[in-house]
Amino acid sequence: MSIRLGDLAPDFTAETTEGKINFHQWLGNSWGVLFSHPADFTPVCTTELGSVARLKPEFEKRNVKVIAISADPLDSHKKWIGDINETQNTTVNYPLIADPEFKVANLYGMVHPNIDKFTVRSVFIIGPDKKVKLMITYPASTGRNFNEILRVIDSLQLTANYSVATPSDWKQGEDVIITAAVKDEDIPAKFPKGHKRIKPYLRTTPQPNL
Ligand code: BEZ
Repeated sequence: MSIRLGDLAPDFTAETTEGKINFHQWLGNSWGVLFSHPADFTPVCTTELGSVARLKPEFEKRNVKVIAISADPLDSHKKWIGDINETQNTTVNYPLIADPEFKVANLYGMVHPNIDKFTVRSVFIIGPDKKVKLMITYPASTGRNFNEILRVIDSLQLTANYSVATPSDWKQGEDVIITAAVKDEDIPAKFPKGHKRIKPYLRTTPQPNL
C-alpha cells in the first residue's frame, strides 16, 4: 500500500551505522527526515550525505532528527562514510540505515518497480505525531536541495501552531497568508501585528511567531 500525506509513518527496526534503531522510539518527540539513496558509492548521493551532515545544526535547531537509508549492507555504508567525510569536508553525524533486503524501502514505497533493485531518491518529513507531512521523489540524476527541506520544516512548524499558510518561495521572516477559516473580524485579535486584505481570499500578516 502506498503512503499518503497524513498517514502514520510505518515503524520498523533496522541496523544502522549508529546501531540498531526502532524508528518510532528513535524519533521520540522530535520531527524526522528520512531520506533514501539509490546506492552507496554513487556520486550524487555522496554529495547529498555531505550536505545533510553540514546542515545538521540547522536540523537540530528545529528539533528534527535526520536519518538516511540505502539498500546496501552495513560494512559498505561504513566504508562509504569514510569517502564522504574525506571528499565532502564533513563528518557524517547521523545514522545511515542498512536495508539489504529492501524491508524499509518496500515499507515506504522507495523501490521503483521498473528500476531493478534501486531505491529512489525520496524524502519524508515526519511530525512529532509520527504522521507523514511531506513526501518528495527526485530523479537519480538530481541531487536534493536540503535547504528547501529546512524551509518546508519551518513552514510546517509555523502552520501547525498558527492559522496561517506560507506563500510561494516564503522564507523565515516574510509575511504569511491568513487561512480562510479566520473571519475578517477576528483578524485583529488573532494577528495584532497588522494585516493586508489584498483580496477577500488573500490576506497577509507579518510572521506571527517572531
Ligand atoms: C548518484 O548518486 O550519483 C546516482 C545514483 C544512482 C543512479 C545514478 C546516479
